[in-house]
Amino acid sequence: MMAIEVLPMTEEHLDGVERLQHECYPTMKEHEKITAERAAHFLEVFREGQTVAVETSGSGRGRVVGMNSGFLVADFDFAREGGHTFQEITGGLTYSNHSPDGEFYYGGDICVSPAYRRRGVGRKLYESRKRIARELNLRGVVSGGMLTGLKAHREGPGAGCQAGEYVEKVCSGELIDPTLTFQLRCGFRVMGLLPGYIDDASCCSTAALIFWENPNRATEEERAMARATT
Ligand SMILES: CC(C)(COP(=O)(O)OP(=O)(O)OC[C@H]1O[C@@H](n2cnc3c(N)ncnc32)[C@H](O)[C@@H]1OP(=O)(O)O)[C@@H](O)C(=O)NCCC(=O)NCCS
Repeated sequence: MMAIEVLPMTEEHLDGVERLQHECYPTMKEHEKITAERAAHFLEVFREGQTVAVETSGSGRGRVVGMNSGFLVADFDFAREGGHTFQEITGGLTYSNHSPDGEFYYGGDICVSPAYRRRGVGRKLYESRKRIARELNLRGVVSGGMLTGLKAHREGPGAGCQAGEYVEKVCSGELIDPTLTFQLRCGFRVMGLLPGYIDDASCCSTAALIFWENPNRATEEERAMARATT
């Protein structure tokens, strides 16, 4: 009996991660993808921030069919955020901006193999991100959500709206975007636009800045009280 489980990423998943990136991002430039070597480095930098979805048959090693990767950023001021690119925030995919005491989890990537989509795997991977945020008592999860339906929409009949208008229509449910609609269903909200975010034609290089706020975050005072009573 085959089952799909979300597990901590380990060295045995690295080749599967690289294969998955090629399956999921056919139009993305190579320098934007997570290779086995880069993923190995992420494990060194922040092991607990990396998860995979694995199809297992109950014995032996499973096939990697989804992945989640990210790191911690010290602070994230949405009011002052002037826009960033994927390369800038990830330090050229080295996660050199990782801050062990950071208050936000920055989502570097989440993806599911095309043959395994619409079966709840992506949602499970987002749950793993949220679990990390809860366990580390973070303020929330931030990410750049690629507008993967934007190019097709612009080329469609009677379409051609600007990215801002497109995002508004996706948020209101008037349009469906394969990635942003999914992220909204997973509890994220849009905080802004990130033009030139990533070198990928499908989204016209554009992303939405998205945020999930951790509702269980305890304040310093609450944590101090909890420590004092245990
Ligand atoms: C985005 C992605 C991770 C979704 O993974 P998935 O396993 O298909 O998602 P799920 O099956 O868990 O779906 C979760 C919710 O999103 C919705 N959803 C998923 N894909 C959708 C789509 N293409 N259009 C509309 N809604 C969608 C589902 O209906 C579900 O909502 P529900 O629970 O309310 O019914 C996957 O399509 C993918 O890997 N895309 C390419 C990579 C990518 O764009 N990653 C994000 C980079 S920012």
